[in-house]
Amino acid sequence: MAGQRAQWGSRLGFILAAAGSAVGLGNIWKFPYITGENGGGLFVLIYLACIALVGLPIMMAEIFIGRATQSSPVGAFRKLSKPRSPWMGIGWMGVVVAFIILSYYSVVAGWAMHYTWISLTDSFTGKSPEEIGNTFTALFESAKLNLFWHTLFMAITIAIVMGGIRRGIELCSKILMPTLFLLLLILLAYAMTTDGFGKAFSFLFAPNADKLTSAGVLEALGHSFFTLSLGMGAMITYGSYLKSKDDIVAASITVSVLDTAVALIACLVLFPIIFTVGREPSAGPGLVFVSIPIAFAQMPGGAILAPLFFILLTFAALTSAISLLEVAVSYFIDERGWSRAKATLTCGISILVVGIPSALSGGTKFFGEQFQTLTSYLRINDGEGFNWFDFFDYVATNWMLPIGGLGIALFAAWRVGNKAREEGFKAGTRFGKLYWGWVFLLRYIVPIAVLLVFLNAIGVLDILGVTSDDAN
Ligand code: TRP
Repeated sequence: MAGQRAQWGSRLGFILAAAGSAVGLGNIWKFPYITGENGGGLFVLIYLACIALVGLPIMMAEIFIGRATQSSPVGAFRKLSKPRSPWMGIGWMGVVVAFIILSYYSVVAGWAMHYTWISLTDSFTGKSPEEIGNTFTALFESAKLNLFWHTLFMAITIAIVMGGIRRGIELCSKILMPTLFLLLLILLAYAMTTDGFGKAFSFLFAPNADKLTSAGVLEALGHSFFTLSLGMGAMITYGSYLKSKDDIVAASITVSVLDTAVALIACLVLFPIIFTVGREPSAGPGLVFVSIPIAFAQMPGGAILAPLFFILLTFAALTSAISLLEVAVSYFIDERGWSRAKATLTCGISILVVGIPSALSGGTKFFGEQFQTLTSYLRINDGEGFNWFDFFDYVATNWMLPIGGLGIALFAAWRVGNKAREEGFKAGTRFGKLYWGWVFLLRYIVPIAVLLVFLNAIGVLDILGVTSDDAN
């Protein structure tokens, strides 16, 4: 065990780091396109309910477990139950999930860096939609570009985590997060001046049931885990660097509100721009990497706004990536007694290697087509199959995060002693009155909701005819 365990330098530092973990590609890349695909309005409302009733209680549970034990996930479950307890499996799974998620997350983050680079050097202005579409295809299929940016992004992530809690993660969050908010507000101010803003606003907030399916409801729930960084101990780890008097209720609410605000503002930036040039927001994953550059290319000021947007996306990805790496690193420091440098380099380089198949998914036969054929034979993803990239995302988001989140909720609500739980929740907070509401949500609402996501993921709801179209 390393001597003195690290702690955050300030409350604000913790909040910015936790918000940095939560705010990521999930908010700025994924949320807008799934909202577009699900027709806006009602989907957003359901998403907000999922955040408040499922995400928020689990976030409180994770931070509570971390702060109470001052340990990374594996040790945290041991300390609150007993040595060799099966609950420790949730902690182990978290370490594995960190490797999986970061390995492909870094690939998309690499795309954001590549786009920052082209929008700064070459610029999209004056290019035709076809040319811009081809830019993305060329990137997606290029082994060289994907490997280059994936490696660079991991190297930066490693460098920050190696700096430690205060001088690495906290310092970097204190610089990147305010910059991110500022960039977002600049882009929002611009979007408000465009013709499409009114249409985008009503698309986002007027309840519209047209396109929403029950699969969409479950997608909203699943996404609330991913976007708040829940289900694999990231918030346990960050919570473990808190002092015992810090207010976990207020911190969780602040982080969830910031995360939700960024997701909604991202839509209010992207949709008006899309509507103004007469496109639709239902373009799927290509929304940010194809539709948006096409729109910027046609808009006044686009040459300046495009790089700002992709810098924003890169920063958001970076503060999330460091939280993923920190989960793995903290395990080796706390449980194996490794130095931070050794743990960070070992984990970081392993993740870089695990990510290679994902980086090559768009190009090579093996990691793209042949693996896809194999998974389609196995009838994974309705027989359409996955490449590596999609496969990792599918396994981690649809299976491991919900299982982890369920485990954490059950553990905090049923396994941890009443006294320890109540004292832990109430220490240092003005919101002590919410205690029973929190326990109720964790005990009943969260398990039911997670079970639904889970049954949906394994296709049981399809068989029962509950969902009307494919869930992914
Ligand atoms: N929340 C981040 C996003 O929205 C991704 C992320 C970071 C994450 N850490 C996590 C997801 C831990 C699940 C678990 O992009």
